[in-house]
Amino acid sequence: MKNIQIVIDGPAGAGKSTISKLIAKKFNFLYIDTGAMYRAVGLKALRNNFDTKSDTEKIIKMMDDIDISISHGDDGQHIYLDGEDVTSKIRTPEVSIAASDVSAIPEVRVKLASLQRKLAETDNIIMDGRDIGSYVLPNAQIKIFLTASIEDRARRRYEELIQNGMKVNYNDVKADIKYRDTNDSSRKVAPLKIPEGAIVIDTTGNTLEQSVRLLTDTIKERLSCFLK
Ligand code: DC
Repeated sequence: MKNIQIVIDGPAGAGKSTISKLIAKKFNFLYIDTGAMYRAVGLKALRNNFDTKSDTEKIIKMMDDIDISISHGDDGQHIYLDGEDVTSKIRTPEVSIAASDVSAIPEVRVKLASLQRKLAETDNIIMDGRDIGSYVLPNAQIKIFLTASIEDRARRRYEELIQNGMKVNYNDVKADIKYRDTNDSSRKVAPLKIPEGAIVIDTTGNTLEQSVRLLTDTIKERLSCFLK
C-alpha cells in the first residue's frame, strides 16, 4: 500500500509545527517541516548580504550552489545548509522575513518542492507548510488547513520567541506576521490558500491541548477510512 501523507497548511503562527510534531509522535509518522527549508535559503541569502526582496537574480543563481538536507533525531528535525546544522539559527525574526521573501521566487519553490516530494515518499509522513496540499502533494490522503486570528497567532509566536531567549516586542511580531500573510498569499506561484478537499480548523482561543485533541480526532476518523 502507498504510504500515508497527512499535510497541514496554514499561515504563520497557526500552530502547525508544534501540533504536527506532537501528532507525528502519536501516530508514529515522520514529521517534515518545509518552512525550515525556505528559512535555510533565506539564511544563506542574508549571509551573502543579498536584499531578499529585490536581489532575485542573485538568489536564483545561489540556488545552483546550495545543499539543503534534513535528518531526524529524538529531538525532531534537523536542517542542514551546505552541511552545517542551522536548526536553531533559522528561528530569528530576520530569517522569517527572508524566508517569506525568497519563497516568492519560482526557482526556489521548484527546487524545494522537488526535495519535499522525494522526502514524502520515504515513510508515512506529516508535512506542514503553505502549499503542500495544493501544489507539493495534491494527492495526499488527509489535508488540513490550520488557521487562527492574527492576534492569537502573533501572541503564540511572541511567546515562542521570548521562550527561546529572543528580545522582541509583540507589535513587531504582529507586523512581521501580517507582512508574511500578505507576501505568502499574494505570490504568483503556489500561494498560501486552502487546498481543495482540505478540512479547515480554526484554533482561535484554543489551548494547545484542545487543538491537538481536535486534530488527533479528525485524523483518526479520516485514517480509519483509509486503513479499512
Ligand atoms: O512555516 P514557517 O514560518 O517556518 O515558514 C517560513 C516562510 O517560508 C513562510 O513565511 C513562507 C515560506 N514557506 C512557503 O512558502 N511554503 C512552504 N511550504 C513553507 C514555508
